[in-house]
Amino acid sequence: MKRIFSGIQPSGNLTLGNYLGAIKNWIPLQKEGEALFCIVDLHAITIPQDPIMLKSRTLEVAATYLACGIDPQKSLIFVQSHVSQHAELAWILSCLTPLGWLNRMTQFKDKAGKQREQAALGLYSYPVLQAADILVYQTTHVPVGEDQKQHLELARDIAGAFNRAYNCNFFILPEPQILGIAPRVMSLRDGTKKMSKSDPSDLSRINMMDSDEEINQKIRKAKTDPEPLPGNVGELATRPEAQNLVTIYAALAECSVEKVLQEFKGSLFSAFKPKLAELMISILGPIREETKKWLQDKVELETILRVGQQQATAKASSTLKDVHRLIGFLQ
Ligand code: TRP
Repeated sequence: MKRIFSGIQPSGNLTLGNYLGAIKNWIPLQKEGEALFCIVDLHAITIPQDPIMLKSRTLEVAATYLACGIDPQKSLIFVQSHVSQHAELAWILSCLTPLGWLNRMTQFKDKAGKQREQAALGLYSYPVLQAADILVYQTTHVPVGEDQKQHLELARDIAGAFNRAYNCNFFILPEPQILGIAPRVMSLRDGTKKMSKSDPSDLSRINMMDSDEEINQKIRKAKTDPEPLPGNVGELATRPEAQNLVTIYAALAECSVEKVLQEFKGSLFSAFKPKLAELMISILGPIREETKKWLQDKVELETILRVGQQQATAKASSTLKDVHRLIGFLQ
């Protein structure tokens, strides 16, 4: 039986990158096993968050999950801080994680930058909490964007470290699943940088709540080159901005990049961009309206999160009980 876990931080507006790299690929997995989709607010506070914004963004992520097709009858949707076992297991696992493993994490190096001495301990131990999120449910499969691959490998290593330290075969080693045609959506202003909710330029990203007009405008202004679209993938690979827009088109249309090139080979961006914007609006427009509907029904939304909390807590506390026994904590 597959058990699936994934999560997104409520640390900014959700973007097209979160949709194509994560949420969209979660929908079909709900049929394959038991699925848990978390809003990881404990991870969000590894960088400063405004309390009022954090609250509204937490609800917005939940509403977006539902609007994209996560079905609360089949899957659990819940908030990480509502299930205290995540933080408890993170502490236990942190006692088994060598600093050398954390020192290799590229996301920490990127986020801490030159201010390494000022960076918070939580930002550094972030991947241990992520491992706890996954292991506390004995997760078998973790669908994530490509940037999370290294954290997933660490989660497997930490599971192995626990099993060795306590001479048991307790934790399941989770499998990362890098799914979809666009596991990495790039910035609209620089095709070599990831599309990010924290980029200072709003023109660099499509937010899930952008209006049709904003989508049109951002696609129109997206950086490109003056050449017409090539006919093959090899040539496309040398043009990062062109590659990004064609890949986004393919992911939205649910077809291969080759197929998009067959259709648009020789077209200029002045012809391709309106088609891309039209396709994007036809998909994101209804999701945006559905998200707004959920946000107007806070009572229903909070009920779903409570049910998620209760059922997730039951599973997580059963794992923690076994962990306590294995470690030798007095029962
Ligand atoms: N670190 C992930 C990200 O930034 C979010 C995350 C936290 C996560 N815990 C997780 C993803 C567990 C998958 C599984 O995208």
